[in-house]
Amino acid sequence: MVQTLTVLGLESSCDDTAAAVVRQSPGAQAEILSSVVYGQTELHSAYGGVVPEIAARAHAEKLDICVEQALTQANTSLGDLDAIAVTAGPGLIGGVMSGVMCAKGLSAATGLPLIGVNHLAGHALTPRLTDGIAFPYLMLLVSGGHCQYLIAHGPEQFTRLGGTIDDAPGEAFDKTARLLGLPQPGGPAVEAEARGGDPERFRFPRPLLDRPGCDLSFSGLKTALMRMRDQIVAEKNGLTRQDRADLCAGFQQAIVDTLAEKTRRAIALYLEGSPPEPVIAVAGGVAANSAIRSALETVCSEMGARFTAPPLALCTDNAAMIAFAGIERFRTGARDGLDLTARPRWPLDQTSPSMLGGGKKGAKA
Ligand code: KG4
Ligand code: ZN
Repeated sequence: MVQTLTVLGLESSCDDTAAAVVRQSPGAQAEILSSVVYGQTELHSAYGGVVPEIAARAHAEKLDICVEQALTQANTSLGDLDAIAVTAGPGLIGGVMSGVMCAKGLSAATGLPLIGVNHLAGHALTPRLTDGIAFPYLMLLVSGGHCQYLIAHGPEQFTRLGGTIDDAPGEAFDKTARLLGLPQPGGPAVEAEARGGDPERFRFPRPLLDRPGCDLSFSGLKTALMRMRDQIVAEKNGLTRQDRADLCAGFQQAIVDTLAEKTRRAIALYLEGSPPEPVIAVAGGVAANSAIRSALETVCSEMGARFTAPPLALCTDNAAMIAFAGIERFRTGARDGLDLTARPRWPLDQTSPSMLGGGKKGAKA
């Protein structure tokens, strides 16, 4: 690491438009000079999910504003930058294209190098941005759009140990909330209900626990929940508050148990490589769930690995992680040209078979 780098990052792969400026001096931990995020939740709320065309248009409208705010808040101008990093996939193609076009325009106008970043690498490298974690570490991404275990060996070297074959856990929480008349996003609402519920009253499936490996499946949970809900409604002509709390508690417990067991297996595989200081990091909105978090912490301490989670604002989609991943790529000598393309699918681990799962926010990897 020989040079202080200041990089502007852009993120627009899903329903957050974001820009950030990150700086890293030689031998020091990176510093987030600014991080601006415009969420689009309200634009999509009437549709029960992210509408790709609405998302793409909103990104195109907001990107310039985000860039200006990020530069102003960082007290920098384009002339102070060393490169422009942009999410080039995976994600909703219209949104990714909006960001890539914006970054190309800035690069063409300023002559600054352009760095295309894999959105999942942005998440996966965040523990290095926030805590300076050294390679290799184990990463669990759990959000509304992602669920996978990765060993991070280097800025562009990842081994995927497993992931969801259908829904992401956040998506399952959101669908459950919808089925029970709870508000969106469903995760916090279901977690709050589950606090007053009995996790033993309803027995939910623990998908794929009977099979070896670290793959996960969550789509069957919502079907199970729907059946249980319909059965209670048929028997009692409606749901009581307690029924709803018990359903939430049983559902959440199934996710906790599944993630705990699959994490145990992922840590065992990671430890086979004898990492000098075993660390498991978790990122994604679902990492906010305290039952899931404490189960993961327990598994980590049982297996002798350190648990770490970035602050929530950096666990969810943001551009600071993209700027930082851009710095990491830049230091490897990577540069992209104006022929950089937007990729809807872009697995981090090119050697592992592609996953079937998409996630509520579109194809991921
Ligand atoms: O990372 P994120 O902000 O966006 C992406 O999906 O990329 O994650 C949002 C997801 C939503 O599905 C939301 O319901 C879930 O994270 N979530 C939670 C909790 N807080 C947010 N799920 C379970 N428990 C929570 N406390
Ligand atoms: Zn994400």
